Amino acid sequence: MTTITTERLILRPLTLDDAEAAFEWTGDERVAKYMIYSTHESIETTKEWLGTVKSTDTAYEFGFVRRSDNKLIGSGGIRLKDDGFWEFGYNFRCDCWGMGYATEASKAMIELVRSRYGDVRLMAECAAENTASAHVIEKCGLVFKRYGEYSSYYGKKTFKAKIFEL
Ligand SMILES: CC(C)(COP(=O)(O)OP(=O)(O)OC[C@H]1O[C@@H](n2cnc3c(N)ncnc32)[C@H](O)[C@@H]1OP(=O)(O)O)[C@@H](O)C(=O)NCCC(=O)NCCS
Repeated sequence: MTTITTERLILRPLTLDDAEAAFEWTGDERVAKYMIYSTHESIETTKEWLGTVKSTDTAYEFGFVRRSDNKLIGSGGIRLKDDGFWEFGYNFRCDCWGMGYATEASKAMIELVRSRYGDVRLMAECAAENTASAHVIEKCGLVFKRYGEYSSYYGKKTFKAKIFEL
């Protein structure tokens, strides 16, 4: 079980007990807009999702807890892809946007894999129109490489994507 403490966050494994807090963003269409999941219609869907989340040494999944009030405000992860790149991603409750939390969490996840695996190759992608996410990725030191495309589960949504690497 990996837990990381940063200046303002604790990155820790998600559990079924997180359902109520997580539903605050999984049930919010503003958060799900560019994510590969669809907005959860009920907390039951969030419980099902939490039941499937597994963190391993090549696919770390975290809940992001704000240290000041111990509230779970987002989630994300960093995982090793078949092509050898580590890909990271995140999503946060709307009322916590614009405070640097995504950048702080992403840098901590990158530091984790660097400390364990050395000079790793990193990548991240976001919808081309998701400017905030592109900012986060660039603030983590990755550079834009090319455009691509990604689809949500069951192909419901397809987005033009910006792909970044380091
Ligand atoms: C994308 C997301 C994680 C960003 O989280 P965050 O905690 O607000 O990110 P940070 O505060 O660390 O950084 C956001 C940066 O984008 C900038 N930004 C935010 N909204 C913006 C907008 N609409 N246009 C341009 N820049 C924007 C912020 O100013 C900040 O940059 P700065 O530090 O240079 O000022 C958050 O908006 C979110 O959860 N969105 C929904 C889920 C999602 O889209 N996840 C990513 C999928 S690839």
